[in-house]
Amino acid sequence: MPSETIIITGASSGLGLAFVQYYASLPTPTNIIAIDNRSFPPQIAERYGAVIRSHQIDITSAQKIQDLASTLESAPISLIIHCAGIRGLVPRIVAQQKQGDKNVAATETLEAMNHETMMKTFEINTWGTFNVLRAFLPQLRSAAAQSSKPKVVILSSRMGSISANTAGGGYAYRASKAALNAVVKSLTIDVPDVQFLMLHPGRVETRLVEWKEEGAIGVEESVKDCMRVLEKMDEERWESGRLVDRFGVTIPW
Ligand SMILES: NC(=O)c1ccc[n+]([C@@H]2O[C@H](COP(=O)([O-])OP(=O)(O)OC[C@H]3O[C@@H](n4cnc5c(N)ncnc54)[C@H](OP(=O)(O)O)[C@@H]3O)[C@@H](O)[C@H]2O)c1
Repeated sequence: MPSETIIITGASSGLGLAFVQYYASLPTPTNIIAIDNRSFPPQIAERYGAVIRSHQIDITSAQKIQDLASTLESAPISLIIHCAGIRGLVPRIVAQQKQGDKNVAATETLEAMNHETMMKTFEINTWGTFNVLRAFLPQLRSAAAQSSKPKVVILSSRMGSISANTAGGGYAYRASKAALNAVVKSLTIDVPDVQFLMLHPGRVETRLVEWKEEGAIGVEESVKDCMRVLEKMDEERWESGRLVDRFGVTIPW
């Protein structure tokens, strides 16, 4: 059995699933704790066998995430890749656009946005992230006590950058990811023995949006680029809490 253990959230789909497959197929695979609110694809679980332990959990539940963390006791976790998240589009307009122009921007305009969508997006993208990261701090600290700095990679978005916002709209998603910048900034101060990184994976074809967006790349290409960024994090001793794109270029908040 591998000795190292990592956690990947949003692991049943899209980028999270691609990260799981990447780590599970390494010549020396790691143990992977896969978390998602939908069930983990059985054919992938079967292919990689015992290295993946999947947990169907809503990341917004403090109790369920804490229960999982408690079962790990002080087992060291060297890496968390946090991919669970939603895009914050208004479902009624998504249903209309799906039959018509397939215009994502139209589903999150000033006029379209509503309280339910905005709160749900905050609940998952902002609270859910905080909930997960706080719960697994004992295991990250345990890894820090043993050897090199453990890492937390949070999939964020260029849309969370206030200075990069030249198009307007995107109210729920932009605000939930911008709020993450503030959450992660505080974590870098409160938890200096862990290295945090916020990573924009590019525009990627996943289930985040119900149709393929123009210019979207595949998950394998994005994960390949993201993995180079993770290597750079070590080589260049990046300051904790940076927001970067999949080529490692800093995105100003
Ligand atoms: N794809 C892109 O172009 C893009 C661009 C920039 C940033 N990102 C970021 O990349 C991350 C991964 O997204 P993706 O593109 O891989 O999308 P995805 O295919 O939809 O994967 C996200 C996964 O997170 C799960 N999830 C959502 N809410 C959850 C909850 N409350 N508890 C547990 N799991 C939950 C989803 O399950 P359900 O399907 O059941 O909700 C889904 O399996 C997100 O944070 C996203 O903001 C993506």
